[in-house]
Amino acid sequence: MKTKQFIKDNKERFLKELFELLKIQSVSADSAYNKEVDKAADFLVKQFNLLKLDNVEKIKTEGHPIVYAEKILDKDFPTILVYGHYDVQPADPYELWESPPFEPIIKNKKIYARGACDDKGQMYMHLKAYETLNELDDVSFNIKFMIEGEEECGSDNLEKFVINNKEKLKADVIVISDTSIVSNYTPSITIGLRGLSYMEVELIGPNRDLHSGTYGGAVDNPINVLCKIIGSLKDKNGIVQIPGFYDKVKEYSDGDRYEMNKVPFDLDDFKSHIDINEVFGEKGFSTLERIGIRPTIDVNGIWGGYTNEGSKTVLPSKAFAKISMRLVSNQISSEITKLFKKHVQNLCPKSCKIIVKEHHGGEPVIVNTNTLGYKAAYFAFKKVWGKEPVPTFDGGSIPIVALFKNELKLDSILMGFGLDEDAIHSPNESFGLFNFFKGIETITVFYKNFAKQND
Ligand code: BES
Ligand code: MN
Ligand code: MN
Repeated sequence: MKTKQFIKDNKERFLKELFELLKIQSVSADSAYNKEVDKAADFLVKQFNLLKLDNVEKIKTEGHPIVYAEKILDKDFPTILVYGHYDVQPADPYELWESPPFEPIIKNKKIYARGACDDKGQMYMHLKAYETLNELDDVSFNIKFMIEGEEECGSDNLEKFVINNKEKLKADVIVISDTSIVSNYTPSITIGLRGLSYMEVELIGPNRDLHSGTYGGAVDNPINVLCKIIGSLKDKNGIVQIPGFYDKVKEYSDGDRYEMNKVPFDLDDFKSHIDINEVFGEKGFSTLERIGIRPTIDVNGIWGGYTNEGSKTVLPSKAFAKISMRLVSNQISSEITKLFKKHVQNLCPKSCKIIVKEHHGGEPVIVNTNTLGYKAAYFAFKKVWGKEPVPTFDGGSIPIVALFKNELKLDSILMGFGLDEDAIHSPNESFGLFNFFKGIETITVFYKNFAKQND
């Protein structure tokens, strides 16, 4: 009760602080924003100091800094490690935002800004949850915060940091709020994340753009070739055509699949929210299964030739595409990357050359539900939301989670509070005020539950 009251009494200030963070344009993928990314790290340093945490550090890496802070009250208390990210996706196309992405506003009971949900808003809930318990003198656990600035571009430097700082990061549980719940009426805990292999393909034809009349029909066109290759990557049943792609994919029993599909999910809502008439995916699987437990391949961007106003009659010299694959257990990102490379190289005709570049990857995750951490999260949702949370398999990726498991030997509790309609990575990203405040409350209960269960 006291917790609720404290959150209520401090609502305005919590939002004001979050807005300060949301105004910082910490786009990690684009070096033009490096200074802003740094500013976001400084903001967190300031906030951790205000929380009177110890060893507050802005740790330099080869890329963007990691912000670390801790409070070790008693070495016999259980230790909770909070992970989150302060970097955001690029905000473009700007013209599709109804209000500017880095000028947060509240509309329809939601906060609108790039990063409102992914992940500034969600990460910041942990600072405020800790503050709440600390002010109420209700902290009987140790806490470590590790907030990074490179999640949206692969977490490469965080991986090195984790491998080299196992002692510093020693904890009993990791908790992350960077995923979504089914709806505000159906709380859920994420127990699966997909992995990722992200590739870039360059098709090279003639050594210059050619007149499409004098050469057209006699010289192969790299855009046509690229389209043909891309068009052949999935068949009409949505099955990926890369040899070996499915070899290691974990198959689920009928019972498991039945459980998965019990999650309240309305296909008509799903379609209407994104304005499509029909879904498409691997034959034989439901939409929930296609997102949660099946791998896929998609083009994320494609370009080449003339795309400005009017027309220009050219055969392009080059064509490009960014292609990503979402992976599931027990696929291994580096193996899938290799299979992809080999496959598209084989598909390239003699008329063109092909270059396949690798971007970042990440491994899929399945969370062990038979742990103290999971139970603490489960009962926190049950208490605060008045409903038992359902386990869900999310389609997104958080690459560092698999590394946490392998290097720190710890399961991560994925207690996110976002909604699909929050439009993360899209224009008009939002985060509900209800979710922000309810999330803070749920996290305080999680911390307390976890501290108790380890007694
Ligand atoms: N928070 C997301 C991942 C996510 C979103 C998980 C929704 C579950 C539900 C994260 O910030 C993200 O966007 N990850 C990237 C991976 C990265 C390597 C670019 C992704 O999934 O595309
Ligand atoms: Mn995120
Ligand atoms: Mn993201």
